Amino acid sequence: MKRVFSGVQPTGNIHLGNYLGALKQFVELQDDNECIYCIVDMHAITVPQDPKTLREHTLDVAALYLAVGIDPKKSIVFVQSDVSGHAELSWVLTCNSYTGELSRMTQFKDKSKNKESAPTGLFTYPILMAADILLYDTDVVPVGNDQKQHIEICRDLATRINNKYEKTFVIPDGRFLKEGARIMALDDPTKKMSKSAENIHSRISLLDEPSKIKKSIMKATTDSEGIIRFDVENKPGISNLLNIYSVLADKSVEKLEAQYAGKGYGDFKKDLVEVTVEALAPIKARYEEIRHSDELMDILKEGAQRADAIAQKTMARVKKNFGLGLGR
Ligand code: AMP
Ligand code: TRP
Repeated sequence: MKRVFSGVQPTGNIHLGNYLGALKQFVELQDDNECIYCIVDMHAITVPQDPKTLREHTLDVAALYLAVGIDPKKSIVFVQSDVSGHAELSWVLTCNSYTGELSRMTQFKDKSKNKESAPTGLFTYPILMAADILLYDTDVVPVGNDQKQHIEICRDLATRINNKYEKTFVIPDGRFLKEGARIMALDDPTKKMSKSAENIHSRISLLDEPSKIKKSIMKATTDSEGIIRFDVENKPGISNLLNIYSVLADKSVEKLEAQYAGKGYGDFKKDLVEVTVEALAPIKARYEEIRHSDELMDILKEGAQRADAIAQKTMARVKKNFGLGLGR
């Protein structure tokens, strides 16, 4: 059994792209691995947050995790700030990192562009992420491609420390999520569906009402050919809708093309509305059931205890190897 760790930020608007591109794969990994899924609220405060909203979003994401099928009997689900080892290890790693390597992170460069000074937390963000991973002796980290550089720096830090001190850390591997599941924006199929796009009809959020889903799909950008055919290059809109239909209904794109031969975009979209509403209904129902329940609190509390037990062992090893504390 391999140990899997991943984190998601507590932000709103978790959408079909996040679900098909990440969450669904997290659920699949649970069967053959020991999975730890963390809601990284300490990463969220690298930019200003309203305290009340932050806590709400943390619980929203936790409830959604469970609603899509992450099973607390199989996986550990917890909130990052509930386990103090993340911050502790982060400092030890900070002292073994260099400003040069952190300055090369493209995410930091993007976020600090044209600014004279940037928040220090944004700069050291990859170190906290490395601490998340190394704290649990993680073998595999499923993440989006945009996190490649952060996985690399995590591996560099772990290797550097293992060479300098006694072997302290497991070197993790990134498992980059399948690109096939890349879901594009409904209003502009050349862009990725995203949480932050201004047009709410560009995405379908997992908790959208059926009427909103209908509106977004019926408005989705297509083309003037009128033939339902998969061709990303020339027909990115229809291809994206075919892709969504295919994964949600578990039917191949070829089957769908055959099924809709001679039919118009209107019929196709109407059916896709139905398929989407049907696929999201149980997620939404489970979410509503659990979001404000004691069950959710109990699961997160137990998750934090289980995570903390692993984290404390790692921290004891780190302290011993670094000569920190009293050694007993
Ligand atoms: P983000 O919303 O950028 O925080 O992404 C969280 C995770 O969801 C990423 O690591 C991606 O794997 C996945 N993801 C986000 N947007 C999409 C998309 N449009 N299509 C497929 N996967 C996505
Ligand atoms: N930086 C990741 C993202 O924005 C989130 C994250 C924080 C993470 N800690 C992690 C992902 C540890 C994997 C492992 O998507």
